[in-house]
Amino acid sequence: MSEQQKYIGSNTAIRRYLLPHTASVTEEGRLSVGGCDVIELAERYGTPLFVYDEQHIRNRCQEALQAFGSGVAYGAKAFLCKEMARLVDQEGLHLDVATGGEAYVAMMAGVSPERLVLHGNNKSDEEIGTALHAGIGCIVVDSFAELGRIEMVAAELGGTPRVMVRVTPGVEAHTHEYVMTGQVDSKFGFGLASGMATEAVRRVKESAAMTLVGIHAHIGSQIFLLNSYEKAIEALAPFVNESEVEELCLGGGLGVAYVEGEEAPSIGEWGALLKQACLTNGITAHVTAEPGRAIVASAGMTLYRVGTIKDIPGVRTYVSVDGGMSDNPRPVLYGSGYEAFLPRLTLSERSRQVTVVGKHCESGDVVVKDARVPLEMEVGDILCTPVTGAYGHAMASNYNKVARPAVVFVRGGDSRIVVRRETYEDLLRLDE
Ligand code: LLP
Repeated sequence: MSEQQKYIGSNTAIRRYLLPHTASVTEEGRLSVGGCDVIELAERYGTPLFVYDEQHIRNRCQEALQAFGSGVAYGAKAFLCKEMARLVDQEGLHLDVATGGEAYVAMMAGVSPERLVLHGNNKSDEEIGTALHAGIGCIVVDSFAELGRIEMVAAELGGTPRVMVRVTPGVEAHTHEYVMTGQVDSKFGFGLASGMATEAVRRVKESAAMTLVGIHAHIGSQIFLLNSYEKAIEALAPFVNESEVEELCLGGGLGVAYVEGEEAPSIGEWGALLKQACLTNGITAHVTAEPGRAIVASAGMTLYRVGTIKDIPGVRTYVSVDGGMSDNPRPVLYGSGYEAFLPRLTLSERSRQVTVVGKHCESGDVVVKDARVPLEMEVGDILCTPVTGAYGHAMASNYNKVARPAVVFVRGGDSRIVVRRETYEDLLRLDE
């Protein structure tokens, strides 16, 4: 990336690469995405608001398809609603669904069940039954108990589901402990070193109730250092070759840049590296993947309205916005960092240091610690945190009975609500 692409406006203005692909800025510094003025979106749909650049998501899907070929899936847990499922489906990707609930949303969106891959370390009889009944594309088997469950359900319903065996290769990815999944000490999958993976493959091959199509390994999430994948592939290679499977799915996990100074490999670079490492290690199975975050994180951003500014001289300035840990729990859960800026002054220097906090009743409810914002920021301003497209709305809650924000897709000058804002009535809909 050239220096020019990195910066727009002042060299302390928000970095271009943290904004969606179609982002553009007027001479006065007002931000548009998908041809829509961002502040007008906030006025029209209210705040907090998730805004997604549809073209950006489509571009990333195409990049994944080019990198891995057909069969590559979108890790739907990163962000899922009916419109997202339809969009990904239109672009030709499969969907990795982690639960019966995610499968349900995808199917209600009209995605053919054959294009779904069902994951989960504790799939219920009901989830397996619904999946088999619908004709799910593939089940990623995670445990011996599940093998028995699939056999039982298949005996009742008929059919021989296609399955992959999920393996933990015994590799520690460089990422947050909560999102590491490839190490020996993991709740996911069959261990390689313990021989459990070999035993699982043997059981699946012997079973008349299912067909083995592949091996699956997902080593974690938000991974920047691609050598973690190389190590996993090296560890997996003899096992994958002995298993004689058609497919090796290496999961998701490609990291994205959230803040300045971070740089992440592209999906294309990631795909090339995975394929090269497989080649080097003599793996002949078709290599595929299921990125979630890398497809959708920087396509999305959150708009908040500033409600209060509290300056504690010599200590800190708190800027309270109208959302917080209920629409973005990542700072609280993982200590994740974000940037913040004013979309009315996108090009301006951000020389004032503040801490952006939410409206929830706990001090940990921080959106951006030590954010830099323009000096001109005032109460009533729309504040934007970019790169909130993954695991934001997906992990949103109603804590403190705060209603979940709306989600808007923008494209070619049009905006449309794809998930409406919750109302107070919605907060009561489950109460008897
Ligand atoms: N495949 C499997 C089996 C997974 O468990 C995951 C994510 C993915 C694919 C997609 O991974 P991605 O490409 O999005 O990294 N809530 C956390 C992330 C949890 C990831 C869970 N599994 C966060 O906000 O960072």
